[in-house]
Amino acid sequence: MLSKKSAGIKSSAVRELLKFSKIPGVISLAGGIPATDLIDVEGIDTVLKDILSREHRGLFQYSVTEGEEHLREQLSRWNSGHNLNVDAESIIITNGSQQAIDLLSRVFLEKGDKVFVERPTYLAALQIFGYTDATVVELEYDSEGIELNLLEKEMAAGGVKMVYLTPNFANPTGNTISYEQRVKIAKLSQQYQVVIIEDDPYGHLRFSGDPVPSIFSVAQSLFGKNHNVCYMSSFSKIFSPGLRLGWLAVPEHFHMATVVAKQALDLHTSTLNQSIAAHYIESGRINERVEILKATYKDRRDYLIGSLHEYSGGDITWNTPDGGMFLWCHLAEGIDASQLLQECIKENVVFVPGEVFFARDPQKNSLRLSYSMLTAETAREAVIRISRALKKIK
Ligand SMILES: Cc1ncc(COP(=O)(O)O)c(C=O)c1O
Repeated sequence: MLSKKSAGIKSSAVRELLKFSKIPGVISLAGGIPATDLIDVEGIDTVLKDILSREHRGLFQYSVTEGEEHLREQLSRWNSGHNLNVDAESIIITNGSQQAIDLLSRVFLEKGDKVFVERPTYLAALQIFGYTDATVVELEYDSEGIELNLLEKEMAAGGVKMVYLTPNFANPTGNTISYEQRVKIAKLSQQYQVVIIEDDPYGHLRFSGDPVPSIFSVAQSLFGKNHNVCYMSSFSKIFSPGLRLGWLAVPEHFHMATVVAKQALDLHTSTLNQSIAAHYIESGRINERVEILKATYKDRRDYLIGSLHEYSGGDITWNTPDGGMFLWCHLAEGIDASQLLQECIKENVVFVPGEVFFARDPQKNSLRLSYSMLTAETAREAVIRISRALKKIK
């Protein structure tokens, strides 16, 4: 009875892994989740009490599809301090950035379209594109960044509808797209009328290096309001993933179609949750929290890298990200990270084999290690256990 697309779908390897990570004694480097201990529950409590002490009947009523004005205004103001100049009218509130990707794929993609993505890329974006009739094409990274020459050639040949990019501290690679490449991407998008989806849930979590303007901002400054870049970010990594809140900034000529797609999907995002987020930004607590998150994630990244230096015996190589939550690693050629995971499960440590982040021809020797939940002790113990498991399969 299932549609062909649903029948062909396998359970996500990451979701399966989350079961193991809940077992006591297991150290998980698998979840792409923010640190539970860093969620500002006191701040949320204070904001909630404040909201509920005023007239709040409207917070339990239906709301407008594009999102509460108060939240859109707060986001516009707050983002302008973070390299993204977008007016409140261009913002659409979504149920996380996951929904924003889904909305845009509904708005733009049809049978035969090609979507270009970084190789490797965010697994759940690949899942969304899998539900469309579009074809995914991967762009390699080299020392210069993404393979833009191939992209340009394909655009010139008329074969590109959409490009999906994670510009800051990507999931899974930790890669950041350079300013020069962002300018080039914005120009190509305008020249060949191709939609760019800029998915940026980690951009606020930069703990080293200089911030780079968003592709959206670059396109806006070059071409005014009618560019083709759609930007999205999320409260999930900086506030609370459980509230399911994200925001989407789209140029004017895409706005109505995107709002109508959201209306068809779920009418609007939770009124109460939007109000919590709006007041949280307005209170200024969000800035303090982001500072805490950045400092802690930097420490946790360094614990993991320090332990890899000390205990992995040169058997694992990695990229060092300037922010975000992930270390992208490789084993020697010919060693399969999924096989390593099976041994690691026996050692009570889990990670995500990198192959799930590829649309095709996966790098079997790659793996993603998430450091968001680690302490100095668990980082050390995790690497010792992974190295022990590695010895058994070498
Ligand atoms: C690159 C990327 N995009 C989107 C999402 C979805 O986030 P949200 O919780 O905002 O839906 C994630 C979550 O891990 C992600 O890594």
